[in-house]
Amino acid sequence: MPMSEASAKALVAATTRRDAGIVPSAAATAPVTRAMFDELMLPIYAPAPFVPVRGEGSRVWDQDGKMYIDFAAGVAVTSLGHCHPALVRALTEQAHTLWHVSNWFTNEPALRLARRLVEHTFAERVFFCNSGAEANEAALKLARRYAHDRFGPKKFRVISTLNSFHGRTLFTVTAGGQAKYASGFGPNPEGITHIAYNDVAALEAQFAQAGDTICAVLLEPMQGEGGMTPGTPAFLQAARRLCTTHGALLVLDEIQSGMGRTGALFSYMQKGIVPDILTSAKGLAGGFPIGALLTTADVASVFGVGVHGTTFGGNPLACAVAGAAFDVINTTEVLDGVKARHALFIEGLKAIDARRNVFADIRGEGVWIGCELAAAWKGKAMDVVRAAGDAGLMLLVAGPDVVRIAPSLVISLDEILEGLGRLEKALDQALR
Ligand SMILES: Cc1ncc(COP(=O)(O)O)c(C=O)c1O
Repeated sequence: MPMSEASAKALVAATTRRDAGIVPSAAATAPVTRAMFDELMLPIYAPAPFVPVRGEGSRVWDQDGKMYIDFAAGVAVTSLGHCHPALVRALTEQAHTLWHVSNWFTNEPALRLARRLVEHTFAERVFFCNSGAEANEAALKLARRYAHDRFGPKKFRVISTLNSFHGRTLFTVTAGGQAKYASGFGPNPEGITHIAYNDVAALEAQFAQAGDTICAVLLEPMQGEGGMTPGTPAFLQAARRLCTTHGALLVLDEIQSGMGRTGALFSYMQKGIVPDILTSAKGLAGGFPIGALLTTADVASVFGVGVHGTTFGGNPLACAVAGAAFDVINTTEVLDGVKARHALFIEGLKAIDARRNVFADIRGEGVWIGCELAAAWKGKAMDVVRAAGDAGLMLLVAGPDVVRIAPSLVISLDEILEGLGRLEKALDQALR
């Protein structure tokens, strides 16, 4: 039976209510446990045995009230610590103003963020998306389209590096240099060649053999996930030079290295090179999901309306938070503070190593440091991370042999010292 007009109007009125008194469902407040992860979620992660519930600065508390020092910041994401007041203010102000309008409209926070990025980097054009993988996917598509339109369809090859990590879409996982992430999903996209990272001769050989087929070189300025391996100036500069000579684009993946992590707004600024395309995500909005692609007006010009897009990319909430994060991070004080923290971390880690003799190498830039375990402890990085959890420290690995530290850019001295103390306990427990 069709609904009467009166019932329809009553139902519309009832469901138009916007009062704050709407009661949350039982599901919204029911207790939850770590065990539920294994029952409910796709088994693609192995989360720690505790569930973090609250964070402030570089401290996090779990369901039992235990406090952890955060040397992980997500995975190099919460770059201003948890619940930074400037970010909370930007988010709540925007949450009361406008959440979403689609890309059939532009919005003020996105334009303000784009203007900041253009004013403070090499870029002239910006594309916003929601994650690092999505930014790299767009970068690879843009590089292919640029080469296609300017040089023809034969210039489609991408040179990437072994051990690199660029995201989990089929294109970016294939571009990444770790076969374990890309196998079993085939057929994978074609035309990607992997060379050894920092191997200038291998890069030169690729261009010498068939430079006219290469559309892009895709590089992290320092390989993060792949083991915290800094790019040598010679390699990065050779990539720039060869790309320029052969009409290929240099795509720098600054998803982990960017937004202050190395003590510069973007790492390329410390390396004496300028990319054609740069991708950012992770720390860009200090923990609110966002990705970005930065490029020149010339490269951007090959994309027209409808060629690429996203539903959520450039939404006002993410862009408002990123704008606030940008303003805090892009100051001499904060960027120099990252370099000061680097020195303190290295000093503390060397002191631990002098007492315990556990590291083969301590390396990295800014607050992005890898501690490679000594030969006797090969493959034990994850054991150290688990023991760190027991000791009240959130820590990361970068492959099986490297313990990675990537805290907030503004972590306090007390938290650094407390965290290093807990790290030493964890090393003691895990490596015996
Ligand atoms: C260098 C680099 N590129 C891309 C990505 C993928 O970013 P997302 O996980 O946001 O897709 C990551 C993530 O770890 C990364 O470190």
